[in-house]
Order: sequence, then C-alpha cells, then structure tokens
Amino acid sequence: MVRVDGSPLDVCTGPAMRAVRDLVTKVAATNAAVLLTGESGVGKEVVARAIHHASPRAGRPLLKVNCAALPGELLESELFGHARGAFTGAYRDKPGKFEQAQQGTILLDEIGEVPLRLQAKLLHVLQDGEFARVGGERVLQTDVRVMAATNHDLEADIRGGRFREDLYYRLNVIAIHVPPLRERRDEIPALVAHFLKTANAQYGRSLDVPPALLRRLVAHTWPGNIRQLENIVKRMVVLGSAAWIEDELVAHPAASAPPAPVPGPAAAILGLKLIARRAARDAERLAITNMLERTHWNRTKAARLLQISYKALLYKIVECGLTEKPVAPAPPTPKNDVVA
Ligand SMILES: Nc1ncnc2c1ncn2[C@@H]1O[C@H](COP(=O)(O)OP(=O)(O)O)[C@@H](O)[C@H]1O
Ligand SMILES: [Mg+2]
Repeated sequence: MVRVDGSPLDVCTGPAMRAVRDLVTKVAATNAAVLLTGESGVGKEVVARAIHHASPRAGRPLLKVNCAALPGELLESELFGHARGAFTGAYRDKPGKFEQAQQGTILLDEIGEVPLRLQAKLLHVLQDGEFARVGGERVLQTDVRVMAATNHDLEADIRGGRFREDLYYRLNVIAIHVPPLRERRDEIPALVAHFLKTANAQYGRSLDVPPALLRRLVAHTWPGNIRQLENIVKRMVVLGSAAWIEDELVAHPAASAPPAPVPGPAAAILGLKLIARRAARDAERLAITNMLERTHWNRTKAARLLQISYKALLYKIVECGLTEKPVAPAPPTPKNDVVA
C-alpha cells in the first residue's frame, strides 16, 4: 500500500474523503490518467499532488497548467512548446510543459476550458505519447502521466458539443470526485486547526478559535469550499480578530446559522471601520424591525417611511434574516472574540 503521509490530505480523515484517500493510494503506483472533478476550492489539486508524491514519479516534476488562464494559441504553446518564428513574438525555440515534465506528471487544471481544436492534440498525446511543438516539424515522444481537473460537468459539455467524448474517456480512466466541504463538515474542526497552526506559525501569533465560532464555521455552507475556509482563518490570524467573520458569514448565511451575536466589550479591540460597519448594520436591523412592526409588515409602507426602495427593503429583510412572526430581540450575549 502506498502511503500518503505528509500530504495536507491527512487532515481529511472523515468518511466522505475516505474513498478519495483509498483511490489515491491505489492509483499512485500506476500510470493511469486521472480525472478529478469537484467544485472550485475542494482540494482537487491537493489530491493530484498527493498522487504524484506517492507515485514512482515523485522525484520528477509535477507541472500544473491552468487551461482557463490562457487563450487557445498561448495554451498550445504552453503545453507543447513552440519553434522559433511559429508566431509573432516567438523569437526562440521553447519547450512546453509536456517536455519539461518528462517522466513526471502534468496536471491539466480546468480541462473543461480547453478549446476543441486543442482537445484533438491532447487526445493524440494521450493515445500515442507523441506531439510536435507549435510550428515545429519534429515529432517528440513524451513519457508523462496526465491528470486533469475540472469543476465542469464534462458529460454535459459532451452533450453540448463543447468537449470531445474520446478525450473524456482517455482522461477518465480513474475518476476521483472530491466532495464539497458542506458534505464533509465533520472535517471542518481539523481543517481549522490545521490552518490556524500554519497561519500562527507563519505570522508569529497564537490565536485560537472559540468553540462558539467553531460551531458557526461548521454550520456554514462554504460556497468557496476549503479555499474560502483557509482564507478566512488566515485573515483572522493576520487581523488578530474574528469579529469581522460575522459579517462575512452573514453575507452567505448557512441554512441553520444562529443569530449574529450582539457586540460586547471585546468590540473595543476592533478596528474603527469594523466597529462602524457592525454598528450601522445593527442599527439598520433595529430600525427595519421597528418599522415593520409599526406597519404590521406592510412592506410598501415600511419602505416609503424608511425612504428606501421596496426592492432594497426586501433585500435587507433577507440579509438581516427577519421573519414576519414577531420575534423577541436576542438577549445580548458575550462576543466570542478570538483572544491573541
Ligand atoms: N485536505 C486539505 N487539507 C488542507 N488544505 C487543503 C486540503 N484540501 C484543500 N486544501 C487547501 O485549499 C485550497 C484549495 O485547494 P485546491 O486543491 O487548490 O482546490 P481545487 O483545485 O479543487 O480548486 C488550497 O490552498 C489547499 O491548500
Ligand atoms: Mg484548482
């Protein structure tokens, strides 16, 4: 059995990732093409790296090409290199990633964005291990393991004529689906601890996440998946405070998110802008609640009296999580700020 120790994947030990981890160890020893699917930020690249590092190619490069970042012609040159004079600006011969990754691994990130014409050339490399540089005459051999990643539904792209079916089957020898973070919330505490440790070490701090905030993070839906969680923890460490996280999570509330805590004495350590933002938001929520009660939830009237548009009011009602049945205001609770 190939071990994946030392990879960030070690953090994800929950049941949803067990299948992924098992596949990583199984396919590492082979040369089979791997297609990684899943939403943006779920860790597809982390999985690709784990496979490469557990494979016999580990001593050779793993080169990633972001297929969405370059227009077709530049992407072709990036992948396959070009001969001098192949196009304007091609002053000298240049090897592409398929040459540079010799005996290693190439990760074609966002494979769903590759134009059809280039898909044909990729298919050829995958089938015969051969290609030519752009504008080059010599046929070059390549020994590269290919992995591809996408957040597209490639089967839908095939039906829509945007992706070649034959290329799909070549890439999809081993399919690994990395589930979104909201389907593996049990891993959030370990991920938070991991990101905290890394960021604390990086910025010379010793912040902690209080249990109430951790519960909040576990309940969140995380549309940006692990990347978003990592960013939030990192920013929290850099700013030395977690108070603003409330604002961020309120902007994308979890289905069952608890109400936002009322700012307490700990707010004094916040930056002035944050204090102002939170105070404005709380004042707005209060004013809107009062007006809706006064007008018996006649939104048109409430909007007119508040001097905002009807649409703006509806937006704020949703944003503040207000509901029509009369609700007692939440009792002030101590703010769970992170203590440095
Ligand atoms: N299992 C994990 N453990 C720790 N960090 C992870 C894990 N999975 C993903 N990450 C981090 O989350 C971010 C997004 O991961 P990435 O592999 O780039 O996602 P994707 O390729 O699916 O968009 C990266 O910064 C990565 O280091
Ligand atoms: Mg990625």
